[in-house]
Amino acid sequence: MTEEKYSIKVVPNENSRIGEVDFNNLAFGKIMSDHMLVADYDDGEWKEVSIVPYTNFNLSPASSALHYGQAIFEGIKAYKFADGRVSIFRPDKNHERFNRSALRLEMPEVPTEIFMDGLKQLVDLDRDWVPEKEGCSLYIRPFMFATEPALGVHPSKSYKFVVITCPVGAYYNKPLRVKVETEYTRAAKGGVGFSKNAGNYALSLYPTRLAQEQGFDQLIWTDAKEHKYIEEAGTANLVFMLNGTLVTPGSDTVLQGVTRYSIMSIAEHWGIPTETRDVTVQELIDGIKAGNVTEAFAAGTAATLTPISEIGHEGEIYTLPAPETREFSNKVLHYLNELRYGKIEDPFGWNFLVG
Ligand SMILES: Cc1ncc(COP(=O)(O)O)c(C=O)c1O
Repeated sequence: MTEEKYSIKVVPNENSRIGEVDFNNLAFGKIMSDHMLVADYDDGEWKEVSIVPYTNFNLSPASSALHYGQAIFEGIKAYKFADGRVSIFRPDKNHERFNRSALRLEMPEVPTEIFMDGLKQLVDLDRDWVPEKEGCSLYIRPFMFATEPALGVHPSKSYKFVVITCPVGAYYNKPLRVKVETEYTRAAKGGVGFSKNAGNYALSLYPTRLAQEQGFDQLIWTDAKEHKYIEEAGTANLVFMLNGTLVTPGSDTVLQGVTRYSIMSIAEHWGIPTETRDVTVQELIDGIKAGNVTEAFAAGTAATLTPISEIGHEGEIYTLPAPETREFSNKVLHYLNELRYGKIEDPFGWNFLVG
């Protein structure tokens, strides 16, 4: 019944741009694939759902997302197996998180028949856009924004849910120098830190630029109240190997990353102890000084697993062990890649095959 309700109309792109893509030289997020999924919400229900050629929108300047920020998104990746099959990595987790973001931003939830089936059909249609080269993938960007053409702060009555995709290479191509941010704040308790809403990224840009001017690549956000607890990086979660235990900060002010929980699950599967808990800046610095922090990395869909080489805090630089010596990070990244590209069995059932 539900499938009929949300049957997806497909309008094929007769003018594919795939011939213009240099798959050996993919920048992140610059070239969009041929199709996009669009679903409109109005009068309390999802109406038309269609897959159409990638194109611009026609928007009212009064669209409420542009003024009051009801805008959320997700980031997911699809991989091509050697035998040509295409698999999306754990999209069900992103769907759950998307709907948690929607609830917090007073936006409608997107049903499984639109989010999951839509993703599957869209990626299947543009399967030629999924890169084959290891380290490359098709980045999938579902997003939703408020479209009611009305000023005044109130929940929008209408929304657009859209999915676009683009073939990508690495987001970071070198180990990161990160600065512990102790002046600016990303998220406070009771706020929207756990949600993937556009505003969380807008507010990060200015402090990140200041850190970049000091020679850092990214920030480590700390808690809003005391700047005492480690939270996450700008576009990824943080994971540390501390005294042989894999630790990630557990606060509800950080995004509940799919990548880090996948890495923690693999670690547990291998018998490595894991903890999701508060980590103070002091504990981290003391650990680095004592040689007990043997690994540190950023984990995220875009970032994959990017080693952290140096951490700056209050004018001091703390250096971590050389990335090539990090046993767990290298092993788990290799394992994750093998799993996502279908080279080994998928004991967790994380690969969502398309078509
Ligand atoms: C702020 C932030 N934290 C964490 C993550 C990692 O989340 P995931 O592993 O689900 O991509 C991301 C990236 O998506 C992010 O933007």
